[in-house]
Amino acid sequence: MSETLERWSSRRAFILAVTGAAVGLGNIWRFPYMTGENGGSAFLLLYVAFVLLLGLPVMMAEILIGRAGRRSPMLALTHLARQAGATPHWRWLGLFGVMTVFLILSFYSVVSGWSIEYLIESVNGNFVGLTPDEIGASFNAFLADPLRMTFNHTLFLLLTLSVVAAGVSSGLEKLNNFLMPLLYLLLLVLAGYAVTTDGFGAAAAWLFTPNPSAISVSVVLNAMGHAFFTLAVGACALMAYGAYMPDHQSLPKAVAAVAVLDVTVALLAGIAIFSVVFSQGMDPGEGPGLMFVTLPIAFAELPGGAWWLAIFFLLLLLATWTSSINLAEPIVATLQGAGLRRGRATALVGVAVWAVGMLSVLSFSAMADVHWLGEMTFFDLVTTVPTDVFLPVGGLLIAIFAAWVMPRDTVVRALDAGPRGFRVWQATVRFVSIPLVVIVLVSGLW
Ligand code: PHE
Ligand code: NA
Repeated sequence: MSETLERWSSRRAFILAVTGAAVGLGNIWRFPYMTGENGGSAFLLLYVAFVLLLGLPVMMAEILIGRAGRRSPMLALTHLARQAGATPHWRWLGLFGVMTVFLILSFYSVVSGWSIEYLIESVNGNFVGLTPDEIGASFNAFLADPLRMTFNHTLFLLLTLSVVAAGVSSGLEKLNNFLMPLLYLLLLVLAGYAVTTDGFGAAAAWLFTPNPSAISVSVVLNAMGHAFFTLAVGACALMAYGAYMPDHQSLPKAVAAVAVLDVTVALLAGIAIFSVVFSQGMDPGEGPGLMFVTLPIAFAELPGGAWWLAIFFLLLLLATWTSSINLAEPIVATLQGAGLRRGRATALVGVAVWAVGMLSVLSFSAMADVHWLGEMTFFDLVTTVPTDVFLPVGGLLIAIFAAWVMPRDTVVRALDAGPRGFRVWQATVRFVSIPLVVIVLVSGLW
C-alpha cells in the first residue's frame, strides 16, 4: 500500500518538476508578444499544432533518452550511441544544447530582471494613478536606463546561480510546486475579469477567429520556435529529468499533462493581456514590452490592484527562477563533467552569462544602433535565433536519435506506453515531426 502511494507521489513529482521548467517567461511574456507580432489567431493555431505534432513527440524523445541512459545528457548520448553501434559523436548534441541554453539564459536573466523592477515598483505603488500612456512611457524610461537594468539582471543571475551552486534546487522546486497553483489561480482571476471588460470581445475574435491570410513563412518559423521554447524542448535540458523518472510511468501521459498546463497558462495570460490591448486601443504588435505595459493597466482597474500586481510579479519571478535554474544546471553540470568543482563552474557560468546578458541590456541604450543580421539589435538576435533555429535543430537531432538510432526495445521500455503507444509515437516522430521540422527550417532560413 505504502509502495503504491510512494510511486504515485513520485509520478506527480516528475510532472511538477517538468512543469516548473516549462512554465516561465515563455508563457506569460513571450507568448503574448509573439502572438501580437504574428497576426493573432494564425500564430495561436500554428503554435498549438506544433505543440501537438512536434513539441510533444520530441519532448518524449528527449526525456526517454535520459531515462534509457540514466546519466547526464552527454554521457547518456555516448552510452546509448555505443549500445546502438552508432558513432559516439552523438554526444556533441549535448554540447550544442548547452550552447543553446547559455544564449537563452543570457536574455532570460535580463527579462526576469524586468520582473524584479516591476515587483519593486508595484510594491512602492509607483503605478497607482498613472494613465496607460504614462505606464508605457515609464517602461521605455526603464529600458533606456542601463544602470537599473544591469542591477536587476545581476540580481536575478545571483538568485539563480546561488541555488545552482548550493545544489538546493529540489527545495526551491517544492516551494514552486506549492506556489505555481497560486500563479495559475491569479491568471484565472485576471482572465475572468478580462472577460467582463469591453476589450474582451475584440481580443477573443482576434485570438480565435481563423485568419489563414496572416500565415507567412516567418509566422510558421516563429510558431515552431515558440513551441519548442515554451515546452523547454530541444536543448537536452529535459534529458536530465528523464534520468530520475520513476520506473512505472507512462511518458506520453506525463508529457501531455505538462503540455496542457503550459498551454493553458499561456492562453490565460493572452486573454488578460489582449483584452487590455483592445480596450485601450493599443497595438498588439507592441513587442517585448507588451506584458509590462498592459498588466499594470489591467490590475489598476481591480480593487487593491497595486498589491495584486506585486503578487503577480512575485509569482512570475518564482516561475522564471525555476526555469532559469533549469537553463543553468546543464551548463554547470557539463563544466563539472570536464573536471571543474561545482562552485568554480557556477562562478564561471555566472560571469560568462552576465557578460553576454549585458549586450542585451545595452541594446536598449548604448548599443541601440548596433545591428546584427540586418536590422536586429543584439536583444532581437538572441531572443530569436537560439529559439527559432537552435532549438528546432537540436530537437530534430534528438528525434532522429530516439526514433532511428536507438534500439526498439530500449525505446519501448523508456517510453512506457506499451507496444501500440510505441508504434504511434515512432510513426509520428519518423513521418510527421522530423519531416515537418526540416521543411519549416529549410523554408524559413531560405
Ligand atoms: N520553457 C521555459 C519558458 O517557457 C524556457 C526554457 C527554454 C527553459 C529551454 C528551459 C529550456 O519560459
Ligand atoms: Na513555457
